[in-house]
Amino acid sequence: MANLDELREKISSVRDAIQKESANLTDSRMVYEARKSYLDKSGRIGQLMKYMKDVEPAQKAEFGKNVNELKTWAMEYFGSLDEKMRTRELLARYDMEKIDITMPALRRPVGNLHPVTQVRNELIDVFSGMGFDIYEGSEVENDYYNFTALNTPKDHPARDMQDTFYLSPEFVLRTQTSSAQIHVMENQEPPIKILSPGKVFRSDDDATHSPMFTQMEGLVVDKGITLGDLQGMLDVFVKRVFGEETHTRLRPSFFPFTEPSVEVDVSCFECGGAGCSFCKHTGWIEVLGAGIVNRKVLENCGIDPDVYSGLAFGIGIERVAMLKYGINNIKQLFESDLRVLNQINDN
Ligand code: PHE
Repeated sequence: MANLDELREKISSVRDAIQKESANLTDSRMVYEARKSYLDKSGRIGQLMKYMKDVEPAQKAEFGKNVNELKTWAMEYFGSLDEKMRTRELLARYDMEKIDITMPALRRPVGNLHPVTQVRNELIDVFSGMGFDIYEGSEVENDYYNFTALNTPKDHPARDMQDTFYLSPEFVLRTQTSSAQIHVMENQEPPIKILSPGKVFRSDDDATHSPMFTQMEGLVVDKGITLGDLQGMLDVFVKRVFGEETHTRLRPSFFPFTEPSVEVDVSCFECGGAGCSFCKHTGWIEVLGAGIVNRKVLENCGIDPDVYSGLAFGIGIERVAMLKYGINNIKQLFESDLRVLNQINDN
């Protein structure tokens, strides 16, 4: 028979072991494991019960009570240890996740539309407000659409006005969006009111010319269209893009596909027309070519020039962008230098 005092010795040595071991427990996971090793059925406290069979019957109740007391104590002990660990862990997490709301926010860089696209969109906006539809032509054209139908037959001296990239004797990279006029008039009965933006190509390369640039063609065909209609529309466009004080003037010019032909100047928006270096002291800045559609062009497209008349204009988008944003070299529009592009944002 086991002596109860000896068994009590065992009980208190388990208690000591728990207290000693607890000094090494550093997180709630370890507390959980330690608790298991004592309090699970097969744990060290549970194991004490196997001495019960050796205890004298009169002392069995006493022994059971002592083991149970140890068990209750251990549960509370591990319970408070666990709570201590969890609190400590929570505080550590708070500390780690702390946000300083007074810190300046990270600036996320956002892109913006290219100046050529901005101007293109602005022009589309202005003209679609006047009822123009968009027609996107193709960049590769045959000789007929780019020249012949536009009253510029082979060997016509006006072909020299534009240095052409030939892809073959028949096909060219279009030199002007005017080719779109022919496609539209061949396929549509008047009234016609289209705007055709797109890339054009010329073998030309200096501070104000690039081998690839963008034009916006306008074409209106109806009964009784005159130069007055042209000037009225261009006035609206110019005021919207360059400012309300800006006005236009038409100067005689020559294009094979318009008669009469004009160059359209706007009053210098830098000096208001008084003359400055920006407008080369003339008070005017040239912005586009235009005119009344040549009868021959209407005929080429099967439209009766005795019934209908038309106006056409061609705006160089880069030229407008350069004027608007004070860029003096067209290359700056194509070099994708963010130091330049970031300064230009009307969006
Ligand atoms: N296509 C001409 C050019 O590229 C511009 C223009 C268009 C002139 C329409 C008159 C009418 O220079």
